[in-house]
Amino acid sequence: MESLIEKVLISEDEIHKRLDSMALEILTGFDGRPITVVAVLKGALVLVADLFRRLPVKLDIEFVTAQSYYGGTETTGEVKVIGGLPDVKGKSILLVDDILDTGLTMEALKSQLIDAGADSVATCVLLSKVKERAVDVEADYYGFEIGDEFVVGYGLDYTGHYRNLPYIGILKEFGV
Ligand code: XMP
Repeated sequence: MESLIEKVLISEDEIHKRLDSMALEILTGFDGRPITVVAVLKGALVLVADLFRRLPVKLDIEFVTAQSYYGGTETTGEVKVIGGLPDVKGKSILLVDDILDTGLTMEALKSQLIDAGADSVATCVLLSKVKERAVDVEADYYGFEIGDEFVVGYGLDYTGHYRNLPYIGILKEFGV
């Protein structure tokens, strides 16, 4: 599997060091308020497991399943929430996704959580692609800025594979 990786963009060690500092930023931002983490499946699975163990406050965790890609590398523009939203009424939400790309997923989920009565919604991603978004949204907390290239690993997949790589890499098919 790893032979199909063109290059490692962000190493496991770099990710973990950045998560340490990002967790401190989040703790400062929430200022002691209990956090309800809402993680976007499947991509945020690895990030959220590593991140929420660095948040030593009263915290609960919920999951949502959003579909914006259908197995390829292009977004369809439509974001579907499968299986509904958790009860977020009156809660301070930390919405965690793997990557901010067009922004469609983050924007759609954020507005749905606010409509569902969340007290506040802060957004967090490991990766923020530096590009023009399709909608006006940015992450309150992000780990790394990257170029507009397709990445895999650390939860991110290509056709369902590569999520288990401990680093962020670029596939040979998409490599420069
Ligand atoms: P949007 O475009 O809505 O994208 O901001 C968010 C979702 O799209 C997927 N995505 C990627 N998945 N490598 C991936 O493996 C990428 O480079 C990539 N860009 C977007 C991802 O599921 C994310 O939650």
